[in-house]
Amino acid sequence: MSVPTPTPADKFSFGIWTVQYAGRDPFGDPTRAPMDPVHALEKLAEIGAYGVNFHDDDVVPFGSSTSERDAILGRFRQGLADTGLAVTTATTNLFGHPVFKDGGFTSNDRAVRRFALRKVMRNIDLAAELGAQVYVCWGGREGAESGAAKDVQAALSRYKEGFDLLGQYVVDQGYDLRFAIEPKPNEPRGDILLPTIGHALAFIDSLERPELVGVNPEIGHEEMAGLNAAHGYAQALWHDKLFHIDLNGQTGPRYDQDFRFGAGNARGAFWVVDTLLQGGYDGPVHFDFKTPRTEDEDGVWTAAAACMTNYLVLREKALAFRADPDVQEALAASRVGELATPTLAEGETWQDLQAAPEEDPETLGSRGMAFERLDQLALEHLYGVR
Ligand code: GCO
Ligand code: MN
Ligand code: MN
Repeated sequence: MSVPTPTPADKFSFGIWTVQYAGRDPFGDPTRAPMDPVHALEKLAEIGAYGVNFHDDDVVPFGSSTSERDAILGRFRQGLADTGLAVTTATTNLFGHPVFKDGGFTSNDRAVRRFALRKVMRNIDLAAELGAQVYVCWGGREGAESGAAKDVQAALSRYKEGFDLLGQYVVDQGYDLRFAIEPKPNEPRGDILLPTIGHALAFIDSLERPELVGVNPEIGHEEMAGLNAAHGYAQALWHDKLFHIDLNGQTGPRYDQDFRFGAGNARGAFWVVDTLLQGGYDGPVHFDFKTPRTEDEDGVWTAAAACMTNYLVLREKALAFRADPDVQEALAASRVGELATPTLAEGETWQDLQAAPEEDPETLGSRGMAFERLDQLALEHLYGVR
């Protein structure tokens, strides 16, 4: 297998902030110079990306005047036209400025919540104008470090109020835009609200317009919580809520590493790709990674290109795994397909089930599931010997 080359047809997209990340961490200053968003567009197009996602503040610095904003956006629109990159997604920075230290939608301070909602609506207008179809909401500052500081039930009511208002806003404006909540268990807050895919899905059900809101799971965030990211993506698909994806790499429960996709838990990445392919996900294949601060700008483009390379490699491997006759035999031996058969026959009732001849648990319990063979075949594909 040679190293594959990305094309726009692969629908790869990047957050502008991913390549702009200059290496600031809690212990050290940036190691790279600030990156002009238009330069980011040019380089992303050059390496084969299809689209971009951005926070309002990635493009227009916080606090810019209206005339500064207009000038910056004029240049940005020109950059999009020149590169042909699509704006697939947009989002709001509700975490960087000190005003958001206790959150945006769920700050205890009501004035902050009002400010946050206005900031989101303003960027939604831009997102809609630029053709974004998904609006990502990562509530990194919605949370707490200590128990009494946050009335969690009130916070969830305010969170719901925020989404209900924004849903009303896009409907009133006639925008073709849906929201995707991005769960994360912690960091920067000690504990973040809506910490996992499951929490977010349950919350969405409480909204006035649940059809407008789905999830944007990030591999690393699920793994920070010790969860199986592929299972989370599968459940989001099952609920018809996988509106967007943030692919990256992570090595187990620790700080948010945001490695390039395919680094960290490579086996987990293989199953995420398999899940997306089998589940028919057809949105942008989006990367949300941060290049380690050891790298200079060349390293940033190496890492960005590697996200796409690794996805293409894993896509080829996942497809080869599914097409392998040995795998199909192993799937049958493991009775994987049988799980699609309903447990009761059509028209069968619980009374019929009670009256049916009983299964023999000893016989059933003695049958091996042959999962080891199946998993070994997957590893052999992943390790490149099949
Ligand atoms: C993280 C988050 C963020 C968000 C992004 C969108 O790594 O904690 O992924 O990068 O995805 O800021 O708001
Ligand atoms: Mn992350
Ligand atoms: Mn993310």
